[in-house]
Amino acid sequence: MPKQVKIKHIRCSRKTQPADISKRSALIEYVRAKHPHLKLKKLGEGAYATVLGSPSGKTVFKIGADDGDGAYNDIQCDAYLNYLKVVCKDQSNPFFPKIKSATVYLRGKEYAYIIEMERLTSLEDGKNHNKLGATERYLFDVLQEDESLEGMAHNVEVMLKLAPELKHNKKVTSLLMMSKKLSKLIQEWGNDMHDGNIMLRGRQLVITDPIA
Ligand SMILES: Nc1ncnc2c1ncn2[C@@H]1O[C@H](COP(=O)(O)OP(=O)(O)O)[C@@H](O)[C@H]1O
Ligand SMILES: [Mg+2]
Repeated sequence: MPKQVKIKHIRCSRKTQPADISKRSALIEYVRAKHPHLKLKKLGEGAYATVLGSPSGKTVFKIGADDGDGAYNDIQCDAYLNYLKVVCKDQSNPFFPKIKSATVYLRGKEYAYIIEMERLTSLEDGKNHNKLGATERYLFDVLQEDESLEGMAHNVEVMLKLAPELKHNKKVTSLLMMSKKLSKLIQEWGNDMHDGNIMLRGRQLVITDPIA
């Protein structure tokens, strides 16, 4: 049986565990079998994870496991899990996705994860992209350039020095915290922000998967 690890700050009361964590298809079947009433469909897929959701559900399951021959086997080098730690510690920041539960399964060096998180809409859809306001559009461009992100954090800090009353403005402080934390992660890992990894909650940009 694989060992189950809880990511700090997230409660998880899962009792059953998947028998096979080395294949993504097996984990997808495990999640579907656990929630048959949800009639889960594939909403998106990348190199590292598959996202399932029910037609009218407000949350989705992000399933991270290998979909090739070898299992994932170096958890310290998992960019997404390193980002998830940051996200779970700062759930009130609107730029970060809301996480309902996060479970990492370990068996020896192999690992896989199942994350239940809020359902977001895609910016890959041109219609959604056109809904962006001028500020979000600007920010969307800045996020994709790692140096711009660092520059933005610096500019917000300068602005706060000039106008300290803005320290109480949630939009400004969340922008500053997000850009500081992400520019640190991106310096270490590399930038993977694009319209597949930046999504929307209403008109709010939400960064789902920013580091490579
Ligand atoms: N919270 C979400 N709600 C709806 N769809 C999502 C959500 N998160 C990711 N997706 C979709 O699933 C795709 C793959 O997810 P992602 O987290 O980027 O995995 P990968 O690390 O494999 O790129 C995304 O491109 C997006 O279309
Ligand atoms: Mg992605």
